[in-house]
Amino acid sequence: MSYREQWDSDSGFILAALGSAVGLGNVWRFSYLAGENGGAAFLVVYLVCVAAIGLPLMLAELAIGRTAQLEATGAFARLGGAPRWRLAGVPSVIGAFIVLAYYPVIAGWALRFFVEYLAGGPGTLSGEAAERHFLAFIGSATPMFWQASIVLASLLIVRGGVGHGIEAANRFLMPLLALLLCTLAAYTLSLPGSWAGVSFVFAPDWSALGEPGVWLAALGQAFFSLSLAMGALLIYGSYVPSSRRLPLPALAIAIGDTVFSMVAGLMIFPAVFAFGLDPASGPTLAFITMPRVFAQMPGGIAVGAAFFGLLVVAAITSTISLLEVIAAFLMENLGMTRPRASLLASVAGFLAGVPAALSFGVLAQVRLWGLGVLDAMDRFVSNLLLPLNGILIALFVGWIWHAAEARRESGLRPRLAACWHWSIRWLAPCLIALILLHSLGLLGAAG
Ligand code: TRP
Repeated sequence: MSYREQWDSDSGFILAALGSAVGLGNVWRFSYLAGENGGAAFLVVYLVCVAAIGLPLMLAELAIGRTAQLEATGAFARLGGAPRWRLAGVPSVIGAFIVLAYYPVIAGWALRFFVEYLAGGPGTLSGEAAERHFLAFIGSATPMFWQASIVLASLLIVRGGVGHGIEAANRFLMPLLALLLCTLAAYTLSLPGSWAGVSFVFAPDWSALGEPGVWLAALGQAFFSLSLAMGALLIYGSYVPSSRRLPLPALAIAIGDTVFSMVAGLMIFPAVFAFGLDPASGPTLAFITMPRVFAQMPGGIAVGAAFFGLLVVAAITSTISLLEVIAAFLMENLGMTRPRASLLASVAGFLAGVPAALSFGVLAQVRLWGLGVLDAMDRFVSNLLLPLNGILIALFVGWIWHAAEARRESGLRPRLAACWHWSIRWLAPCLIALILLHSLGLLGAAG
């Protein structure tokens, strides 16, 4: 077999995987979902989903990759012991491709705002002007340009390879991200009136726990935020040398990602409350509500530039892992070189994302399940494809992969390994199925 790339160091692998996990999901998606689903109650449900389902599945996915040392479809075929198991890797690759299509669109919006704030632009916008400004932008064709810029930046990194491209980029970008986030959170927490935002994040309204919709949103978010079930952790795991253990990296990634979301909440909600705005404003929270916040804030233009810069950096470190899933699929199955495979994946991802980029403009009339193209892609992946694929991966690891080997490859001590195997076998699939069925209204009591 030909030479296969690996990470240069353990810390490089953890940073890269954390870079994949930390993204728009932590800032843009987490905050608006928390805003819509009861604030702190959502956080509680979310933590349960991460601990009970996310973490065991993350370890499973990393272990599949590290054991097989192959991309997703090849990995399932090898561990399943028959070529037909290749099919089990297909939903992961499809999921990665759909997200690769629409994710750079949103990242592109952030990039354009970043550039605008750098130029001192929309800092003067308040009230309805902020909304008009954003809607006019996404209603035009220019989002395609910004989307293309994000894809191009990711391509340049992925083209550089695992160590010199992906690992090196994360080593630089992740500390930058942490610095931006902490600075912004410290600043917004110092604003008068910001503590209402803190209690919104940390004082639960327990009635939300009884609503299946909240559980599905939290489960979908756990999958999305941890980059699960899309082949991304699997491919990153496949570049880990066989001698390395995975449990601590998995724990570090899950905790790091969750802490990041919580601090992002502490950056956004205090600011929203300090200026008396609505926390439940949905997907536009980051792009309409936040600019209104910045307009009223002392130093708002600099803060706005930092905020959107943070979104861009977070999004790029995630986009590269999506691109890597597709590029590795092409390299290992079609024998393409890395430069070719990454270019082809980028172009295909960009083209597939064009309808999402135009879904608030010329394609605004196109509705899928009552949603615009971009929202439909996001909803379809997070609330349906990811949970279903999560069940598939859990069942594969629990029942198809040879049990003794799976336990050994998990890297856990025997007793913990048995617990993990049990939860992958029974708990995770049952819980995911329960939440899925409930929220589809198939088990009656849907709220
Ligand atoms: N975790 C990313 C975020 O929070 C989004 C994401 C989901 C992702 N699945 C992925 C990123 C797979 C890379 C690969 O924004």
